Amino acid sequence: MVQNNNSNGPGRRMARVGTATAPARRRLIGGFLWPHLRRYRWLLLGAASLNALHGLAVTSQTMLPRYLIDDVLLARGVPEGQRWRRLLALLGLYLVIALVGRMLVWHVSYRLFTYVREQSILSLRTNFFRHVNHLCRRFHAGHQSGELYSYLFGTPLSAVQNYFQQVAMLAPGAILTLVSTLLWVGSWDWLLSGVLLLSASATTLVLAGAQKRIRPLWEDFQSTESAVTGYVAELLRASRDVKLYAMEQKAVADFADRAGQIGRKIYERDIRSHLEWMKNEGVNYACFALLCLAVAWRYLTTAASPSAARMTIGQVQAYLTAFLVLQGPLNLLFDLATLRSGALAGMERIGAVLDTVSTTPEPVGYEAPLPTAGSIVFHDVTFAYEPGRPVLHTINLTIPYGQRVALVGPSGAGKSTITQLLLRFYDPDSGAIRIDGLDIRHCRGPDYRHHFGVVPQDPFIFRTTIRENLCLANPAASAAEIRRACELAYAWEFIRELPAGLDTLVGEGGSTLSGGQRQRLALARALLANPGYFIFDEATSALDTLSERLVQSAVERAVVGRTALMIAHRISTVRHCDRIVVLREGRIVQDGSYEQLVREKGLFHDLVHGQVREG
Ligand SMILES: Nc1ncnc2c1ncn2[C@@H]1O[C@H](COP(=O)(O)OP(=O)(O)O)[C@@H](O)[C@H]1O
Ligand SMILES: [Mg+2]
Repeated sequence: MVQNNNSNGPGRRMARVGTATAPARRRLIGGFLWPHLRRYRWLLLGAASLNALHGLAVTSQTMLPRYLIDDVLLARGVPEGQRWRRLLALLGLYLVIALVGRMLVWHVSYRLFTYVREQSILSLRTNFFRHVNHLCRRFHAGHQSGELYSYLFGTPLSAVQNYFQQVAMLAPGAILTLVSTLLWVGSWDWLLSGVLLLSASATTLVLAGAQKRIRPLWEDFQSTESAVTGYVAELLRASRDVKLYAMEQKAVADFADRAGQIGRKIYERDIRSHLEWMKNEGVNYACFALLCLAVAWRYLTTAASPSAARMTIGQVQAYLTAFLVLQGPLNLLFDLATLRSGALAGMERIGAVLDTVSTTPEPVGYEAPLPTAGSIVFHDVTFAYEPGRPVLHTINLTIPYGQRVALVGPSGAGKSTITQLLLRFYDPDSGAIRIDGLDIRHCRGPDYRHHFGVVPQDPFIFRTTIRENLCLANPAASAAEIRRACELAYAWEFIRELPAGLDTLVGEGGSTLSGGQRQRLALARALLANPGYFIFDEATSALDTLSERLVQSAVERAVVGRTALMIAHRISTVRHCDRIVVLREGRIVQDGSYEQLVREKGLFHDLVHGQVREG
């Protein structure tokens, strides 16, 4: 059975526009990263375990001086030779721990982790890009391309990445250092170790509060950064128009203003984070003083006790060193709290896009193949881009296969919108579009659009060779086919003149071609695809009158036997179409052959006689 998770009724679909459904609170690592990490879980576990081992090595290294002091230097009644042997054994142990436990283990775990990190980030990026590519036109209308770009290569993803790195690569070692150090010194004196633990908990408490205060600053910074990136990308893309309207000064001023916004947000964020850091430092100094007091008190009060209960100089040294050594892991945990704020903000931005549902969802389960030669039927189609502002009203239109239909009407009448619906860039709010009886909602978008050769109002030419631009929809086209399509579209004459012919590189957006050349290239591209259905939306508007007539009649001949929807730029150019459909304010007001319509009184008559502006 054909299934479709689409709902009818404008209200519901409108509500899904663009996203911002309350994002499900997901877990950063568990829910967000895990799908991309799962494949590498054993490698990741290996990396984290090695990292933990590294943490143990850190503790052992810091504890060795205690034995140097108590068992080598200050040991009483030990023969000289024995003392040296102890020293050598201790140093040997120290070096083994340093070389194997710290350096080698650290490098291997880093290597494993870096591999996992890059693979999973690649997976997340690709997933995001795939999702965005499949999202509907409504979504893209609401998001700047630069903004989406910043999600992938800017702060949101890098914040998640940094946090993940910290959690997997530093936290296991840090936690093990913390715990093993406390256990080690705890075996000597539980009271002093309690003081040490107290200092650790005091800082952690400060950290918990800091995280809560810093997170909104990160969110604020990231949304500013994405908005500014989007704006700057647009300015750079529109460099021609910036010159055209002599906007340079304003553009630079705008840029400075927005870049200044980012600067201010970063300043605020970093200063506030630093203040939190200062609080943490203050608590630490106080704790160190407290520890010194406790250690000194213990040393002095046990000095007269029997040797088993006496505190040694080595232990005094070990407690003070332990406190300093614990600063590393504690600072790291503090960093973790800050990074977590950034990562959560990033995850929420990326997650909101990933949670967005397309307003033109792909059919679920069964995908119907499109009949390659069917009649197109618009049945009671109503449509609005924005809720409450309908653009098409109950359109009913049947186009038998093979008919060449011209859509005419004043600017804004809804001509392009009809073609956008036919291409399933949007779904109708009510009614349906069927091809040979099959609702096009049951066709997968990419397969479906493959059947259409389209020249949009503003064709996009990619920054590559003319040949690659032509072959986009038909990569297997032969040289003869390419040449034939170019000749039909009157594009060959200018391509032939170019220095490298078909292999000439064109600028971004086709900027090294004239408007007419871009259109002829787009026409050749559509003809080369050789589909069953064509859509030409003012496809010859940039040509002079003579060229337009030549190209138009060549195209009309080329599409004979296939369905073609032609949106007319000048009515005279479509007089040879089989049928003319006249639109006004989203309604079909006339429908017939040129000869019929020109005799009737009505909008078409007025258009022909120049009483209403066309296109
Ligand atoms: N992406 C869009 N978002 C919102 N409104 C749109 C969008 N595209 C077109 N419109 C509006 O829809 C109406 C019909 O536009 P269109 O179909 O492009 O007219 P035309 O007949 O000139 O091709 C216009 O009022 C236009 O402003
Ligand atoms: Mg239009």
